[in-house]
Amino acid sequence: MRRPVIAGNWKMNLTLKEAQELAASVAKACGASLPVDVLLFPPFVFIPEVLKAVQGSAVRVGAQTMHQEDSGAYTGEISAPMLTSLACSHVVLGHSERRHIFRETDEAIHQKVQAALRHGLAPVLCVGETLAERESGQTFEVVQRQTETGLDQAAALIKNGGTDILVAYEPVWAIGTGKVATPEQAQEVHQFIRKLLQRQLGKEKARDIRILYGGSVKPDNSEALLKQPDIDGALIGGASLMSDGFISIIRTASALVSSAVS
Ligand code: PGA
Repeated sequence: MRRPVIAGNWKMNLTLKEAQELAASVAKACGASLPVDVLLFPPFVFIPEVLKAVQGSAVRVGAQTMHQEDSGAYTGEISAPMLTSLACSHVVLGHSERRHIFRETDEAIHQKVQAALRHGLAPVLCVGETLAERESGQTFEVVQRQTETGLDQAAALIKNGGTDILVAYEPVWAIGTGKVATPEQAQEVHQFIRKLLQRQLGKEKARDIRILYGGSVKPDNSEALLKQPDIDGALIGGASLMSDGFISIIRTASALVSSAVS
């Protein structure tokens, strides 16, 4: 069994005090060691304080996006070296809100994945189809294009040991809508993504890569999703803003690990 990952994408929410409190309560519930990886993705400005709040716990912190260049005249942007200098471990790349609202292209996302890997930041590459694409039978085509372009030439960087990489399947129609994909719908696409990873990165690496599901994950639907053989965790938006709900999903994932071991 791959070690599950439970990740909270806070998006553009919370104030500093709320962010500190939420991070502290997640850290307290997680303690210093856990059978799952717990990641928090706060807004950029809260990262230093969130890192302080989770110090001593197993919780790790990342960013919701970044720019592909290391430095330069890019007003308002944040780079990989800036994130690693804060001790961030992960970065979400290609989230559908970045693709659709901020018009990030497959090519830009590909460059960001390269930059993250070069700097030892683990990318969480998000892929997923819109409702129109699903309804017109293009789900697999879209997911294939986004995965293959995102990871193009990443193979060498990943294969040579180095940095971890995660993929998140987030059907756009399920994000923030309350319409969760059924466990079977999600599993079908996760299995497809794993096959793509096999082709791009080799069997061994593809077997180890964690593929997270995202899109209206809540405490009451997380277990059925996490039980699927190719669903290795969850990228959670709305439900990660409430400590009780988020902690309960972490507990569900931990219990599944314990039951698989026993
Ligand atoms: P949601 O968001 O859980 O609120 O649907 C998921 C995401 O966008 O990562």
